[in-house]
Amino acid sequence: MELRDAILGRRSVRRYSSRPVPKKVIEEIIDLAMWAPSGMNRQNWFFVVVTGEIRDKAVEICYEGYLSYIGKKVEKVFSHKPCVVKETRSFFATLGGAPVVVFAYAEPGPESPFTDVQSVSAAIENMLLLAYERGLGTCWMTGPLNMEKEFNRLLGVEGKKLVALIPMGYPQDVPKVPSRRGKKVVYLGFSRRGQS
Ligand SMILES: Cc1cc2nc3c(=O)[nH]c(=O)nc-3n(C[C@H](O)[C@H](O)[C@H](O)COP(=O)(O)O)c2cc1C
Repeated sequence: MELRDAILGRRSVRRYSSRPVPKKVIEEIIDLAMWAPSGMNRQNWFFVVVTGEIRDKAVEICYEGYLSYIGKKVEKVFSHKPCVVKETRSFFATLGGAPVVVFAYAEPGPESPFTDVQSVSAAIENMLLLAYERGLGTCWMTGPLNMEKEFNRLLGVEGKKLVALIPMGYPQDVPKVPSRRGKKVVYLGFSRRGQS
């Protein structure tokens, strides 16, 4: 697959089939994702990949987080779109049936927390594109992060910052392509012919 096609075709998938994802496929994706750039080349990412019962417990924690915190924010932001509120609630309750959930953590370093998170985010985006190339769906999620302590207890993680959860599995349906928003870039100092 061309990189361009992966960038354009990847979508946030919120409904998955129950078809298991072979561990080898996940390993290949994560090994390649970790070739991302990182501040001071610290490679400060740490991933925990869960399936089965532990995945089910993680989903329960997500839903607790929805009910206790993020649900209220979703209801406020999307008060004019009740179907988005309903779908989001249902997604947090089930993670769309994704058989695998990847937890992406940052190991704190000597620079700012922004550097730590940006390095992990670079690896996450690699992961999303590689998963798409392998026919897998993903959804980058920060909504459940208020439950970090509960996730850490479940996963036995200490001393790291939870950056995102990524449900992963074979998509049940292909989500709609979201529209692109206004002007987000300016070019300065280029000549008319596009050469500086
Ligand atoms: C940092 C970040 C956090 C996100 N958190 C959530 C989330 O908590 N729940 C969710 O359903 N989608 C989440 N998303 C997915 C976005 O909603 C999605 O990327 C956006 O709607 C564009 O759709 P697309 O990914 O299909 O292009 C998140 C995406 C990013 C980059």
